[in-house]
Amino acid sequence: MNQMSEPLEQTRLYDRPDWLYLLREFDTLYRHGTAGGSRPIRAHRKRVRDALSSIIYANPAITPRAPQPKPVTTHLGRALDLGARGAVQGMSQALSRVTDQLTWEYGYEKVPKALIKKYAYCEVVGPRGPVPSEKLVLGFVLFAPSTTYPQHSHREIEESYISVAGAWSENDAAVHAPGSLILNRPGLEHRITTGELTPCLLAYAWTGSKERLCEPEMKLSSPRRERMEKGI
Ligand SMILES: [Fe+2]
Repeated sequence: MNQMSEPLEQTRLYDRPDWLYLLREFDTLYRHGTAGGSRPIRAHRKRVRDALSSIIYANPAITPRAPQPKPVTTHLGRALDLGARGAVQGMSQALSRVTDQLTWEYGYEKVPKALIKKYAYCEVVGPRGPVPSEKLVLGFVLFAPSTTYPQHSHREIEESYISVAGAWSENDAAVHAPGSLILNRPGLEHRITTGELTPCLLAYAWTGSKERLCEPEMKLSSPRRERMEKGI
């Protein structure tokens, strides 16, 4: 067979051990962590690990994506250093092996000016790859110190965050440290603030219908509309 007629070989998940080990860190967190006695959290954790197990078992072809930094990724090294000393060190170390391959993005057509240098996320599993799936999205979101990520919700998508590095608060309700899991049920309005001195790195999982995961319609809530709806 000459070179021209050789089939193009696809790279599969098992050919990329760094990606595979990163997914196994997600599996460890969603399999062996605790639901703290909450039934919805327990159900969510099961949905995530069941979907993830079937993805790993299928050994899918990797979808190549161009690496893309964002201004906030200048904080990633510090976040990974902090993460490597914390409760989720395995995840932080596994992520540090693929940092040169991550595609960081904003997800909004119009990014609020205040967030341009302070926020970005990257997907590891999802409809666009690099590990393709239409039933689960796994990724990371990175915030610079002193960031306020405005009020938003996700229609028909259930979201969980697991803190990897840094301290943060959701809806001014608690301070979450590395190892904490926070569940945002579909439609729940949430706003995130991060501590003053360190960046904050969260691993996240989204479950929902194929249609919704493919078109998540990322929108920030309009504070003016909210005030009008609440009559204040
Ligand atoms: Fe969210």
